[in-house]
Amino acid sequence: MSFSQIGVVGLGIMGAGIVEVFARAGYQVVGVAESALAVDAGKTNLKKSLDRAVSKGKLTQDQSDEIADRVSFGEDFELLANCDLVIEAAPETLALKVEIFSKLDQAVKPSGILASNTSSLSVTEIANATSRPAQVVGMHFFNPAPVQKFVEVISTAHSDRRVVTEIVELGESLGKHLAQISDQPGFIVNKLLLRYLNHAVQILDSGQASKEQMDAAMRELSGYPMGPCELLDLIGIETCVEILRTIHADTKLEIDKPANGMVELVSAGKNGRKTGSGFYDYSEKLDIPTDQNEDIKRQVHSDLLIAYLGDCIAMEATGYATKADIDSGMKLGCGLPEGPFEVIEKIGLEKVRAAQAELSERTGIAAYQPLPL
Ligand code: 3HC
Repeated sequence: MSFSQIGVVGLGIMGAGIVEVFARAGYQVVGVAESALAVDAGKTNLKKSLDRAVSKGKLTQDQSDEIADRVSFGEDFELLANCDLVIEAAPETLALKVEIFSKLDQAVKPSGILASNTSSLSVTEIANATSRPAQVVGMHFFNPAPVQKFVEVISTAHSDRRVVTEIVELGESLGKHLAQISDQPGFIVNKLLLRYLNHAVQILDSGQASKEQMDAAMRELSGYPMGPCELLDLIGIETCVEILRTIHADTKLEIDKPANGMVELVSAGKNGRKTGSGFYDYSEKLDIPTDQNEDIKRQVHSDLLIAYLGDCIAMEATGYATKADIDSGMKLGCGLPEGPFEVIEKIGLEKVRAAQAELSERTGIAAYQPLPL
């Protein structure tokens, strides 16, 4: 199958980013959102991102105009009728996604492939809402979509293997690195990342460290591009809470229950950058300060890192994902300087296991125990 026209439903930060990725790669793109206001917000998101590239000298004004000219916008699903692929990037609510897919099934030509950019929800349940479940997959991008080079392609028991292969090839044509996986809550990256982010807020809630200490710890001691609270603000705290609820419903582990600090911010409408504030206030340009308390930084860095590395070891051991896909996902999806298995190699597996046991004993949390050998 050759792809020429791509549709995107939902034009928030992720949807607009996906529109930009395809338009930059030369595809004709139709962006659809539920209201004139949401369409305008999508246009603004795209324009801001292209203007940023022009101001940095990454694109000329002519190139930026050409990219923008490949995109048309509207509110009507009929605009998507001739799309070869439509990617849904709506908020993380299963009922909403099911409704959108049943409408897409009616509107899009029968040969069209339908994909969800869901962060954690069941692609199988979404596919069940259509009369073409073999042509439904997950295509999960990372924020900011034009920057992060990793895409997860999620297949279900319904999926036609040819469709999955075509989507992988299409993703590669965008310059992305693809990983193929089956339909499990959180897939590879979010399952690992959200537990780490939740752990950070649990530490914050317990009063052991401040958000500045934790953010500085991960930036300075592991070279992460952002600390956990900064990253929660970038992704959107309400999205993170929804993803954690999905993961928690599956694992039933206390460590996956969304931390109070996040739930409270969401209740106050402080969802992060998109609402102007979250853990931090974005009403003016913000430089997150470092913190001089080296002992606290070293402790929280060690706890967050060891719990995360333990999760990576467990994910690989279950056979869900390979070391290579886990390393690529964390580096290319989240901009981390090293993959977890590269870090484990440096520290030594036995030392990581000993540190897991110590963390579990000190905190009384059994889920931090190393896997039995
Ligand atoms: N849109 C387009 N481009 C953007 C952008 C945006 N929103 N934000 C930054 N960029 C580009 C810049 O133009 C710049 O490009 P260049 O290198 O070609 O000049 C590059 O990214 C670096 O940007 P900056 O210099 O302005 O800023 P930083 O160096 O601080 O990088 C960052 C910003 C790329 C966001 C970096 O901090 C990062 O990688 N953070 C981690 C983000 C992450 O973990 N994302 C994954 C979250 S999980 C997810 O999305 C899954 C979902 O389901 C929840």
